[in-house]
Amino acid sequence: MTQVFNPAQRDKLHSDNRKKSLPAKKILTACGLGEDKVFLDVGCGNGYFSLPAAEIVGPGGEVHAFDISSQMLEDLQGRAEAQQIENLKLYQVNNSGVCEGNIQGELADSGDMMLMANLLHEVSNLPKFIQYYLDFLKDQGRLIVIDWRKKEMETGPDYQHRLAVDTVQNLLREADLELEYSRILNDKYYLIVADKKSR
Ligand SMILES: C[S@@+](CC[C@H](N)C(=O)[O-])C[C@H]1O[C@@H](n2cnc3c(N)ncnc32)[C@H](O)[C@@H]1O
Repeated sequence: MTQVFNPAQRDKLHSDNRKKSLPAKKILTACGLGEDKVFLDVGCGNGYFSLPAAEIVGPGGEVHAFDISSQMLEDLQGRAEAQQIENLKLYQVNNSGVCEGNIQGELADSGDMMLMANLLHEVSNLPKFIQYYLDFLKDQGRLIVIDWRKKEMETGPDYQHRLAVDTVQNLLREADLELEYSRILNDKYYLIVADKKSR
């Protein structure tokens, strides 16, 4: 069984500590996000990355944000309205991470960049989940995974739910992605960047 984030804890995702250890704009621009791009945020929560991404891509770009939790999405909607962000579209997905309706046709091959931040340790059937979302990336589109390091810590998910860097790297290779680079960001998090191969 995986351990899904408790929406009652959602304010923690925007804490000052997190802003220090995961500077969202800096990470996204360093990974190549820029103006007019299409950015997909899978497991977006209450928008810690979606909101700065919407600013970076600007009015000529789009952000599509997916989550299973209506509470997280409502919180994100409120934050987006308060910041007058208009290039952000939200999607509620079911427990398998699959969107209702025919968004597969709408979003297929559309994304320049996709983020799965602090998400994969919460997901069961990872190969199927990753494959489903990869269809939304363009050829040579970029996937960024950020997650908790696999070690004992006072904060974050329980040790047994954490995914080691090489476990995620193997999953991405098996999904036929080209691994570009992996970084230990700090004592808590790692980042993996992988690109979709041209077909
Ligand atoms: C720890 S939060 C991280 C939120 C955001 N990515 C961030 O870094 O601030 C994980 C989020 O993933 C969502 N989630 C869990 N399983 C999911 C799934 N199968 N599909 C989509 N979202 C999921 C949870 O509802 C939660 O909002």
